[in-house]
Amino acid sequence: MKRINIDSTRLWHTIMEMAKIGATPKGGVKRLALTETDKAARDLFCFWAESDGFEYEWDSVGNIFVTLQGKSKNLPPVLIGSHLDTQPTGGKFDGIYGVMAGYEVIKTIKEQGIKPSRPITVVNWTNEEGVRFTPAMAGSGVFSGVYTEEEIYNSTDNNGMTFKNELEKIGYRGHRKSVDYEAEVYIEPHIEQGPILESENYKIGIVKGVQGQLSLDVSVTGFESHSGSTPMNMRKDALVSSSKMCLALNRMATEQFPGSVATVGKMIVHPGARNTVPGKTYFTIDIRHPRKDILFEMESKIKQHFQNIADETGTKVEIRKAWFTPPVIFNSICAETLRKSAEFLGYNFMEMVSGAGHDACMVNNKVPGCMVFVPCEKGISHNELENASPEDLATGANVLLYSVMDFAI
Ligand code: GLV
Ligand code: MN
Ligand code: MN
Repeated sequence: MKRINIDSTRLWHTIMEMAKIGATPKGGVKRLALTETDKAARDLFCFWAESDGFEYEWDSVGNIFVTLQGKSKNLPPVLIGSHLDTQPTGGKFDGIYGVMAGYEVIKTIKEQGIKPSRPITVVNWTNEEGVRFTPAMAGSGVFSGVYTEEEIYNSTDNNGMTFKNELEKIGYRGHRKSVDYEAEVYIEPHIEQGPILESENYKIGIVKGVQGQLSLDVSVTGFESHSGSTPMNMRKDALVSSSKMCLALNRMATEQFPGSVATVGKMIVHPGARNTVPGKTYFTIDIRHPRKDILFEMESKIKQHFQNIADETGTKVEIRKAWFTPPVIFNSICAETLRKSAEFLGYNFMEMVSGAGHDACMVNNKVPGCMVFVPCEKGISHNELENASPEDLATGANVLLYSVMDFAI
């Protein structure tokens, strides 16, 4: 086979152009799902698709599909993708790399004059990050039949705006139901978001699976009172109670459940006044482990510990499951194709399990799925400093190119 390559300069350029939308002063990106910045990124993606002569459309939950047609239009496509939404202090690459690498691959195949036997489609999934709307991986979840359209439409942000309303407002609510779309296979390229590839000097990670994730919403109710006149022993301070819960969670994950991680990433304190003892808090918990039974054991320990703390501090606690994503094992044939491509291209690779969640976790419920990782600088991600080299990004996109051709040519 004549060796072809993606255009690494062009790939880098498209990622940098996307990074201008919602760019932050520290060099990162803030592009929360279904905001005006998300709309601008979507518009740019569609503008490129239109200019380059690809077909494009979006489904009922706003997932955008850009297609290079194949000889047979009716066969389900090879699907490649990830997400264009980011964290509030996100980087330029998390998600964006997967969409842009996919796009670079279909451009390369088209330019080479290769007509695939089946369509190749690049997808931007809606609300992967789950920051503005719960749950995460929403668009891919509806596509995969894990969530219903109604569940996702009814999700609200902090200001009570619904997903459906905000999707309509930016003009990306399509007619065709997401769940009706099909695919032959799904490949998601992503930066690793951890330090292993870089520290062990591997160029490519073949992702065997993803650890499970359990997300909880916690509300603590105390009693608002004057900060100057309420004696310390007469307070029902919801924030003090919540702080003890955070520490108990951290200790539990560190000392009792090796291999687990636990995070409180968001807390709202009410009424949020300097001189009022907090009467209410709301906070989120994110726990992850490769085993489902361990996650459930952690959940039940959290409930016990938190109830004890609430009793000690005279507060009330309510805990609700926000979402649960079981551990995922990717399709072995799909992973084998990635491995063969890396070998053919002469890149060193290792097999690994992903610590972060990805749209592929959802899609794999419906379509055989797999992921390819590339290194990122010091493993830093969900941070404005997130960085990756043009060479490493190109390496992953070339593995993607060969794997896609294996499935579609
Ligand atoms: C996705 O960004 C995750 O939370 O793993
Ligand atoms: Mn991501
Ligand atoms: Mn992310």
